[in-house]
Amino acid sequence: MSAFTENSTLLAIETSCDETSAAVLVGCELRSNIVSSQRFHTQFGGVVPELASRAHVRYISSIVRDALSEAHVCMHDVHAIAVTQSPGLAGSLVIGTSFAKGLALRYNVPIIAVNHIEGHIYSACIEHTTLSFPFIVLVVSGGHTALFLVRSFEEYQLLGSTRDDAAGEAFDKIAKLLGLGYPGGAKIDRLAREGNPSAISFPRGMMHDDNFDWSFSGLKTAVRTYLQCHVSGGQIDDQQLRDICAASQEAIVDVLVHKTVRAAQHYAVSTLVVAGGVAANSRLRERLCDAAQDKGWSVFIPSIQYCTDNAAMIGYIGRQKLLAGVRSPLTFTIATQAIRSPYRSR
Ligand code: KG4
Ligand code: ZN
Repeated sequence: MSAFTENSTLLAIETSCDETSAAVLVGCELRSNIVSSQRFHTQFGGVVPELASRAHVRYISSIVRDALSEAHVCMHDVHAIAVTQSPGLAGSLVIGTSFAKGLALRYNVPIIAVNHIEGHIYSACIEHTTLSFPFIVLVVSGGHTALFLVRSFEEYQLLGSTRDDAAGEAFDKIAKLLGLGYPGGAKIDRLAREGNPSAISFPRGMMHDDNFDWSFSGLKTAVRTYLQCHVSGGQIDDQQLRDICAASQEAIVDVLVHKTVRAAQHYAVSTLVVAGGVAANSRLRERLCDAAQDKGWSVFIPSIQYCTDNAAMIGYIGRQKLLAGVRSPLTFTIATQAIRSPYRSR
């Protein structure tokens, strides 16, 4: 087994939820990042874990083959493998890690187990080479909503997270109540542009609590109650729908921006990063950029392909760990824990 150096080639694999993804880095150059999204879950109104893992089984070898081919390398050129170990759906994680371990054994290369959230935390570094430490990162997706203070590749601190639903989950649940289908965040974002965010006053959970946590379950209930009281005969008219979208989106964005800005002020950090699928939200981007501009801060948001689940981000942080000499034993096991437990907090 040769040493992993600055010029080594790395294969990265991500299968924590419903995206099967593989990426290849040659040195620090990202040569490929193939993502296959399991769109069939839409018909069930959410990700069905058993079906997700079966789809990973079906597609993983061709996705890895495509990633290698697009990067113009073969498995014999690969010096190490990075794979998502946690958190995520157990069956999905098992497929990616088993596949990665099989390749590591067959080609006698080291393997590095990567935490999926660490992937999101450093995802903005893939493209934004001017991004420097320290920064505050808001990781906001369908599965996670958490705020971190990041001081280096080895040192980050969990400042707060959601106590119940993730922000993306709140978008999706509200979209479902509105009959917009799954996943609904992008549809709410689009409809909200023609709605009035002040038309309805929805709750801002934990907005003024002295911490960096959130709660979104009350908002979902408030939207359901609003629909029961104000929508006659189950028929929402077009403007009402746009207003509900705008007002509920504003409630989510308000609390996300408020706590992110407060964390930056509290820790005297002037660089903000937003990552995860909900970073695509136009209002969240606008509000954070406005807040940062007011204060002279910088904001970095990865492009969409690095915001949603992808292997490039796993490869990026996996490479940093390999360069620092970290390796995982082939006997490592997956972990499905929620956001609170598995993070180093220094
Ligand atoms: O990171 P991601 O692809 O998957 C995980 O959840 O890990 O994020 C998907 C989430 C979904 O909840 C989806 O509704 C939300 O991101 N989302 C959005 C937007 N685009 C995607 N939420 C609000 N506004 C958007 N434009
Ligand atoms: Zn994710």
